[in-house]
Amino acid sequence: MTKKPWQGRLEGKTSIDLERFSESISFDHRLYPYDIEGSIAHARMLGERGIISEEDARSIVGGLERIRNMIDRKEFTWDPSLEDVHMNIEHALTEMIGDAGAKLHTGRSRNDQVALDLRIFLREEVRGVASLLKGLLGALLNKAEAHFGSIAPGYTHLQRAQPILISHHLMAYFEMFRRDLERFRAMTDRLSESPLGSGALAGTALPIDRESTARELGFSGLTRNSMDSVSDRDFAAEFLFAVALCQIHLSRVAEEMVIWSTSEFAFVRLPDSYCTGSSMMPQKKNPDPAELVRGKTGRAVGNLISLLVTLKGLPMAYNRDLQEDKEPVFDSLDTLTGSIGIMTALLTEVQFDTVRMEAAAAEGFSTATDLADYLVARNVPFRQAHEIVGRIVKRCIEKSWELQEMPLAEMRAFSELIESDVFESISLRSSIEGKDLPGGTASGAVRNAIKEAREYLDQIPDR
Ligand code: ARG
Repeated sequence: MTKKPWQGRLEGKTSIDLERFSESISFDHRLYPYDIEGSIAHARMLGERGIISEEDARSIVGGLERIRNMIDRKEFTWDPSLEDVHMNIEHALTEMIGDAGAKLHTGRSRNDQVALDLRIFLREEVRGVASLLKGLLGALLNKAEAHFGSIAPGYTHLQRAQPILISHHLMAYFEMFRRDLERFRAMTDRLSESPLGSGALAGTALPIDRESTARELGFSGLTRNSMDSVSDRDFAAEFLFAVALCQIHLSRVAEEMVIWSTSEFAFVRLPDSYCTGSSMMPQKKNPDPAELVRGKTGRAVGNLISLLVTLKGLPMAYNRDLQEDKEPVFDSLDTLTGSIGIMTALLTEVQFDTVRMEAAAAEGFSTATDLADYLVARNVPFRQAHEIVGRIVKRCIEKSWELQEMPLAEMRAFSELIESDVFESISLRSSIEGKDLPGGTASGAVRNAIKEAREYLDQIPDR
């Protein structure tokens, strides 16, 4: 068993049960590139400030770089009795370079170290998520452009409501994910303050230079309170919220892919490469990936709740509870990146049955509101118009007519103001083109939305 750094104070061996219970190396090894980056910056600063010799600093940096290579090449063995990534690396360093290695932790605590590592980790990963979201937005925009002009039924309460352009529906998704992208981008600000130098909780009396490590590590400033720095995980909670909401958005799109691909709807054909079959029923083609994206939303929401509850009621400053921050963060990140990847591919390859969608839009009195608006234009108060059209629809249902199939004479029995031009007003096309306001579904408005979206996307960095 490896010697623990606290061997001076505690007598006897740590119980094996406790080691197993308290280790985090099985998951926090993932932080190693950032842990090493942080340690290198810290060691260089210690050398520059004369807290350790330049020579020791150089040998620490060299040792850490070798360790990083070993880990990169999977030639490094993680030792669970050394608890976490920080102690594993420090221990390996001291084995490798001797006493100089034992100077690395001067003026530092694992408490500010882990706060630093997780911040750098998220700073990098948030960039990755943003670039995946850019890809998803691009896929939606391409589809919206490809289907520009095609008509679909728009729903409220999952009942046919009013006709819309398919592109308008796709651009609604675009807006959801644009907000997600912006949420991830905005997190960068709060991730740009370095907690390094906060020590265990109170800072350090050694003459370290927080500014120089912050600069070297790409931060734009320093956290302002050492106690807050080691106990703050707001940035992780924000990340988990942004992931949960984005995953919820993905689940909404996934759900529509699931219902639209049923034979009841049959609005879309999902690519075979993103479907699975049944082990028993030979005819089946199941939208499992979309269902999994929908299902994984539970984990993403659960991870957010998990961290929030962990943080609740924590006294100042660092508490070991905080070790519970990492698994939710890693799991949410992996869940989200996997889900975005699958949905991007699915949305790129999905085929719309535009003929069937337009036919569905023509059914179910979807232009009844336009008929009411027709009467409004002839000075009928909207409430009265609503009632007249309601009675017309009732009559149509009795006769099994769609609105357009009702003879003019029948219609005029409900209102003398209705004339033969009504049929043009209640056509799908004019219903859609009528909604020519910013944010509306008329082709001009949708064309503007697509153009704005393209410009927006072009100025988002790829990475
Ligand atoms: N593995 C710990 C964590 O993830 C590192 C900090 C441990 N600090 C301590 N004082 N025990 O939070």
